Amino acid sequence: MTKPASPPGKQASSSPGLSRRAMVQVSTAIAAAPLVGCATEPTGGTVGAASAGVEPAPVMLRMTMQVNGQAYPLTIDGRTSLLDALRENMNLKGSKKGCDHGQCGACTVLVDGRRINSCLTLAVMHEGQAITTIEGLSKGDALHPMQAAFIKYDGFQCGYCTPGQICSSVGMLAEVKAGMPSHVTQNLQGAAPTLTDDEIRERMSGNICRCSAYPNIVAAIRDVSGAAA
Ligand code: FES
Ligand code: FES
Repeated sequence: MTKPASPPGKQASSSPGLSRRAMVQVSTAIAAAPLVGCATEPTGGTVGAASAGVEPAPVMLRMTMQVNGQAYPLTIDGRTSLLDALRENMNLKGSKKGCDHGQCGACTVLVDGRRINSCLTLAVMHEGQAITTIEGLSKGDALHPMQAAFIKYDGFQCGYCTPGQICSSVGMLAEVKAGMPSHVTQNLQGAAPTLTDDEIRERMSGNICRCSAYPNIVAAIRDVSGAAA
């Protein structure tokens, strides 16, 4: 199973509140970081030995993130990923770090209702956008229907991938409702695609479960969507 090359729900968009100057500062810091201590002379000697091993000074940025309906004023290194900002700066540990390379989906959150791998985007790019993590899906003690379905259908074992699976499921159903096709959608002319099990598996293929709870995850999503088995 392969995830669509660039699923509509997994795209990042730049923040309207981020100034061009701040963005240039962040970009410059990121571009410079891997060069320090890495460049070598033809002879193999290190160029700029004085700077070798010296960490570039972080560009600290002030911003306010909107997560689960709450404002989080932050001062963070501009290179901080959204996932690290959530976990380390906002103490929201529900979003998990599996690979940190966009391969597993454990870090999936919703940004303005669209799913995104939070390890692949910078926090600074999402200032002002509405971010929803697994902690924000329930309403107090009332679980989100997808959370309840994962319990009902036993859609997890160790649970490490589960927050990402649930956030991705919620974003995925919104994509289907909006009529977005997937790689396996047969009829591209119709309204909303029919949510077959193949559609569910394809659309969720970016979320890996090492416990292989896939059949139960599909059953949970099918139930919430109202699709027939
Ligand atoms: Fe983000 Fe694996 S931790 S995709
Ligand atoms: Fe263990 Fe998915 S439940 S990785």
